[in-house]
Amino acid sequence: MGMDEHMLSCIKALAENRIQDAKKEAICCCLNDNTKKNEGKTAYYKKLLENGSTNMFELPANLAGLLRMQDVSDFREDRYYLGNQQKELFEQIEKGVKTTTKMLEYGIPYMNSTLIYGEPGTGKTEFAKYTAYKLGLPYAYLNFSYLIESYMGKTAQNLQRVFDYCRGQKCVLMLDEIDCIGLERGHDTGADGELGRTTIALMQALDGLVDGQIVIAATNRADRLDKALLRRFQRQIKFEPFDETERSYMIQKYMLSVNPAFLTDDVVNYADKEHTQAEIVKYLIKNIVEKVS
Ligand SMILES: Nc1ncnc2c1ncn2[C@@H]1O[C@H](COP(=O)(O)OP(=O)(O)OP(=O)(O)O)[C@@H](O)[C@H]1O
Ligand SMILES: [Mg+2]
Repeated sequence: MGMDEHMLSCIKALAENRIQDAKKEAICCCLNDNTKKNEGKTAYYKKLLENGSTNMFELPANLAGLLRMQDVSDFREDRYYLGNQQKELFEQIEKGVKTTTKMLEYGIPYMNSTLIYGEPGTGKTEFAKYTAYKLGLPYAYLNFSYLIESYMGKTAQNLQRVFDYCRGQKCVLMLDEIDCIGLERGHDTGADGELGRTTIALMQALDGLVDGQIVIAATNRADRLDKALLRRFQRQIKFEPFDETERSYMIQKYMLSVNPAFLTDDVVNYADKEHTQAEIVKYLIKNIVEKVS
């Protein structure tokens, strides 16, 4: 018996590393199979697939701890408010995916890379997760402060290992807190210029990523980054805290998803004053705790 349309689509999606799409097709396959012998299995697999608890991306042991593959299939889109800047940036990245495919066909290296900077709590990390979720791609998370702290002296080597692994995998690669590594060369006072060397290693590693990966880097301090490293990013954007309208929408969306009854006047009025997204979430959670206690 030949494969049906869903089985083929599932294999295609897997081959292209579109895990979320593959999961959707696999669910269809489970639903379509009504043979007695598979009954128990298909029900069980369908449940696992719907819960997003199957992590399709297993990391080799030598990378565990350095790079984290996160399953973002359970991203709470119902609680994520897409602000104006975020909406525009997502559209650019999405358009970049098509451009990358075309450029690959022409054999021209092109990287869909974005640098997000801005004060703490303006939603840089959360946006990267949202992007992976919306594009249905695996989310690979590399935190530089951890990389440097834990592996001082071997950072360049470890970076190369991480990037070697990511090459050939279509994913959203999030380079978080990149300022820990990409400091302007010359500012480095560490032994043997470790930071300067790792900045160069990072640039070389980035230049080698030409298989359609989506790279998002985040920092609080774009002013401190090496200029040559900055040039590696196609787009650079400063995330600002939400304006009043956005704050209001964010609060409404969050509370409505939790419990519409929690959208009380005091909560609504919190949007009146300037707050970062992190401060808003903190306030809302505190408020919910009071309401449920
Ligand atoms: N658009 C949004 N809608 C709802 N919640 C959001 C949104 N953006 C961010 N958040 C929430 O705000 C908090 C802070 O966001 P995030 O950690 O992404 O900020 P950040 O810019 O990465 O901060 P830092 O510079 O400290 O790393 C998180 O709890 C996140 O879930
Ligand atoms: Mg962050």
